Amino acid sequence: MNSHIRFDAREGALHLLDQRKLPEVEADVVCVTPDDVIAALKTMVVRGAPAIGVTAAFGCALAARGAASEDAEAGRRRLEVDLDRIAEARPTAVNLRWAVERMRRAWREAESGGPLPLTEVAALFEREALALQWEDEALCRRLGRHGAALLHDGDTVLTHCNAGALATAGYGTALGVIRAAVEGGKHISVIADETRPFLQGARLTAWELARDGIPVTVACDNACAHLMSRGMVQAVVVGADRIAANGDTANKIGTLGVAILAGHFQVPFYVAAPLSTIDAATPDGAHIPIEERPAEEVTHMGARRITPQGVPVYNFAFDVTPAALISGIITEAGVLRAPYGEAIAKALGASGERQ
Ligand code: MRU
Repeated sequence: MNSHIRFDAREGALHLLDQRKLPEVEADVVCVTPDDVIAALKTMVVRGAPAIGVTAAFGCALAARGAASEDAEAGRRRLEVDLDRIAEARPTAVNLRWAVERMRRAWREAESGGPLPLTEVAALFEREALALQWEDEALCRRLGRHGAALLHDGDTVLTHCNAGALATAGYGTALGVIRAAVEGGKHISVIADETRPFLQGARLTAWELARDGIPVTVACDNACAHLMSRGMVQAVVVGADRIAANGDTANKIGTLGVAILAGHFQVPFYVAAPLSTIDAATPDGAHIPIEERPAEEVTHMGARRITPQGVPVYNFAFDVTPAALISGIITEAGVLRAPYGEAIAKALGASGERQ
């Protein structure tokens, strides 16, 4: 599946499958301005680190189209401001900033011989965003093949949140590993943690895997210890929103608890993420900004309030798993092993990824 992020150059519109409505309704949100894209990112029409990077890249293209209608100097100033606003739509997933930086780099390089009309910058951003989208799906497939070798025929794999096709340009990271293992002939069953409060596991991971005919069972987040204590989980594979230079990994809230339990029950705990999710400028997990989201996501189930009026809630969207709890980081360049500081520096150096 890769039609969940679709840019129509003729219309000048970005069509996003509205992930808030799945699995009941399959409907698109159509974005024609950078503000539409920022709103879609903030309200999680589209979510998942690589998917929001691709969406941000198309948002840059829409911003350049809009800026091209102004006179040259004002248009360039407006475009710079819009790119900053897109990059800041969500703070934890580094792919968002990374994608906008990639657009800026392409812009700088294209203007090495002098300023270009903004219509040409818009066309450049569209090409670059399409390339990024295509590359992301291709690298998920490579990453999946590396990770598939870590799973055994008959394994049940627990995953948290949704790191699938919906969270990337297609195929997925954690779910890419599972898809590749299944394509390789292994019988893999999946336990999808429900993932309160947005229910990415119950709604999105279960939807994707069921569509692909991969056996999936949904479990409440608090069932993890029980399932592992009964020997019902052979491996954990999760995605990541930002991996620090030392391997500490931010992912959906609840991932840290799963990692601690996996350590206790000696279940291998793998993180699957592209190199673009590694932020060498963030030294460790303590420096990763953690997004806090609206209280209503916790106080309400749909339209129904489930907590007493006036009682405050915590709604941290992510937590940080220390590198010491991670058995391996599965990337498109292979599986990185501890000590992660060295392995990460080597992988980024070899790939030419930004430092
Ligand atoms: O808040 P979300 O749904 O954007 O959080 C998504 C996750 O935590 C994913 O596990 C992560 O982005 C990896 S997606 C391949």
